[in-house]
Amino acid sequence: MATRGGFSSRLGFIAAAAGSAVGLGNIWQFPYVAGQNGGAAFLIIYVFWIFLIGFPIMLGEITLGRSAQSNPYGAYKKYGGKAWGLVGLFGILSGIMILSFYNVVSGWAFGYFLETAFGNLLEENDFSSFFGEYVADYSDNLWFSFGFMAITAVIVLQGVKKGIEGSAKILMPALFFLLLGIIVYGLTLPGAIEGVKFYLLPNFSLINAETIYSALGQAFFSLSLGMGGLITYGSYLSKQENILSSASLVVIADTMVAFLAGLMIFPLVFSQGQSPSEGPGLVFVALPGIFQAMGPVLGKIVGSSFFLLLCFAALTSTISLLEVAVAYLIDERKWSRRRAVSLMALVIFFIGIPSMLGYGAIQSLTSFTFYEGTSKSFMDLVQDIFSVIALPLGGFLLSVFIATRWTTAKFSDEISQGAKNYKGSFMEGFLNIMIKFICPVVLGLMFILTLLQKFFN
Ligand code: PHE
Repeated sequence: MATRGGFSSRLGFIAAAAGSAVGLGNIWQFPYVAGQNGGAAFLIIYVFWIFLIGFPIMLGEITLGRSAQSNPYGAYKKYGGKAWGLVGLFGILSGIMILSFYNVVSGWAFGYFLETAFGNLLEENDFSSFFGEYVADYSDNLWFSFGFMAITAVIVLQGVKKGIEGSAKILMPALFFLLLGIIVYGLTLPGAIEGVKFYLLPNFSLINAETIYSALGQAFFSLSLGMGGLITYGSYLSKQENILSSASLVVIADTMVAFLAGLMIFPLVFSQGQSPSEGPGLVFVALPGIFQAMGPVLGKIVGSSFFLLLCFAALTSTISLLEVAVAYLIDERKWSRRRAVSLMALVIFFIGIPSMLGYGAIQSLTSFTFYEGTSKSFMDLVQDIFSVIALPLGGFLLSVFIATRWTTAKFSDEISQGAKNYKGSFMEGFLNIMIKFICPVVLGLMFILTLLQKFFN
């Protein structure tokens, strides 16, 4: 095991795990999904899922990884045999598929950074059509997403300490302060209060089955759960570290950033008279208008810093997504890091191309009608299968695995290493019950409901 890397400190792990969690899921996706699902009502259900289900599952992943000192496949196989190893493999596959479209959206963010800093984006008068044309033009996007994957690969090549940990420690705090700045500015705009109301005053009549499972999928995606990312990061964590407090900090940081992203976007959207249910273009359409209103110089500075930080947030997540597959190839197939990183990065870039072309370039990838009765893009399909459905399913399987194979006693032992008074505490009782009974039942049920709703409507 001497060749496996490791985090240098507790802070390093927290920065890397929070870096994985905080990303496009918080800033790009959370506001648009919340916007499509009624705002405040969605927020409440989301927070409920995060603490009730997300937190125990996160602990399950980190403890399993640290105990097994292995990638997801190796960890499941070590304690559960080959058949359970397949669950780990499925997680790795989900990570690969998620990275394939995530990298495309990261490329948009990168392109928007360039257009704001060096191009004429802020002189446009219709940001909605600009966005539509932008994502449909694949010639630039191919380069941007290729570039983004290359940067991810270069960092993952440097290994755990230098690459993953070092980059996250700088990028995360910077993002937080920029968000706060834009929020304060946005709240001073006329009409902003309507956005605050939409976001914070719940209208429970808007809650339906879709709100509930979308919020669950969003919680899993946002916390990077259900595909073994945190099994992998946990495997690089030393035995003295307190997993309980580290995981709490990661969950709180992630939830804060998603919450703040909503607080940033909705006042801006309402102050410009836009619709909160705009969809995936929300951040790309709402924000440029605000940067434009700041005037040419200030707008350029704030706007380009924002999109640059969005890229950074995405980068600490793409790093973690790539690392999962890489760790598997290094541990199980005995590949060199170099070979694993370069090959995986290239393959995943290619898998992402149809997702990119489904935003207008190729009509047949733009509007699938065979599920949910509405027209969905290829990217929506990948997202639905490998994120909305697969991640909670991964959480379900993890909790069943701990309950029936690895045992909650081992789970508890692993947490108590580094968390002194854990044994016999209320928290121990709560987590064991959640993992053993509540998570399997709730996640199993949600899996069936989501599947029915999406594909057998
Ligand atoms: N959590 C990341 C985000 O919110 C996305 C992600 C999902 C990263 C799964 C790793 C694993 O953007």
